[in-house]
Amino acid sequence: MGADLWRVSRNRPYICKRKYKLREKQYIIMDREKAIQSFKEYTDKYDSTDTKICLKIEHSFKVCEIAEQIARALSVPLEDVELAWLMGLLHDIGRFEQLRQYGTFIDANSIDHAKLSADILFRDGLIEEYRDESLPDGWESICEKAIRLHNKLLLPEDLDERELIFCNILRDADKADIFRVLAEIPYEKRVSSESAPRRDRAREDVMDCVRAHRCVPRFLERTKHEALISQCCMAFELVFDKSRQIVKEQGNLKRLIEQAKAEATTPETEQLSVLEGELKKAGGIL
Ligand SMILES: [Fe+2]
Repeated sequence: MGADLWRVSRNRPYICKRKYKLREKQYIIMDREKAIQSFKEYTDKYDSTDTKICLKIEHSFKVCEIAEQIARALSVPLEDVELAWLMGLLHDIGRFEQLRQYGTFIDANSIDHAKLSADILFRDGLIEEYRDESLPDGWESICEKAIRLHNKLLLPEDLDERELIFCNILRDADKADIFRVLAEIPYEKRVSSESAPRRDRAREDVMDCVRAHRCVPRFLERTKHEALISQCCMAFELVFDKSRQIVKEQGNLKRLIEQAKAEATTPETEQLSVLEGELKKAGGIL
């Protein structure tokens, strides 16, 4: 799986250094091959035979692609597309160390992985390996902020316009690929051996979030069923039309709910139907 991933990435035609003119301004395309090589050297320090490591490597590349698609749909300058791509590649770089140190991807039981990712890059200096002349002015602080905030329930209100756009591109791209991960990889393979408690339905405060079309605060999700509802609710807060389009086209959200229904109790099935109805009402995602 790991080897295939690198081969696929390397064969992409756009991963080469070249210049071209766009709207009278000359942009330099990022040396993506160098960035991918640095990322590979970093992740090679971890056990790539571990499914959870592979999962995060693949997720990083998928988020790259989706962040790039969203940025292109927003018609931002090419240098900003490159930054969106890079943020996607690096946003979860702390996941590998999180798994090594704590044996889990659950932040509540270990460490805030977004903070760890930003600290590894910007406090420990790993970001220097990704410095590239194609990136826009001030890219470091935007990149740090977007990575540090990518897993937060709400963004702070004091972000400037550029920070907000990049934070939202990364958060949307991350969410879009999380639906793929959830639909493709069984729960047990994703979350280590922690056993989730079970009850026959999600609590009403979780369902309140569904009806209000907002994300579920992490502390509310205790069971596997509540976690699934919470994950699906992330779709309500997709910011860009392109992100919603990508999620709809991928069909993973739909698949995820169908899979959950197949093993749900009757009260859980009813709640999943409510969730489905609300996602349809939100428009453009299911
Ligand atoms: Fe993340």
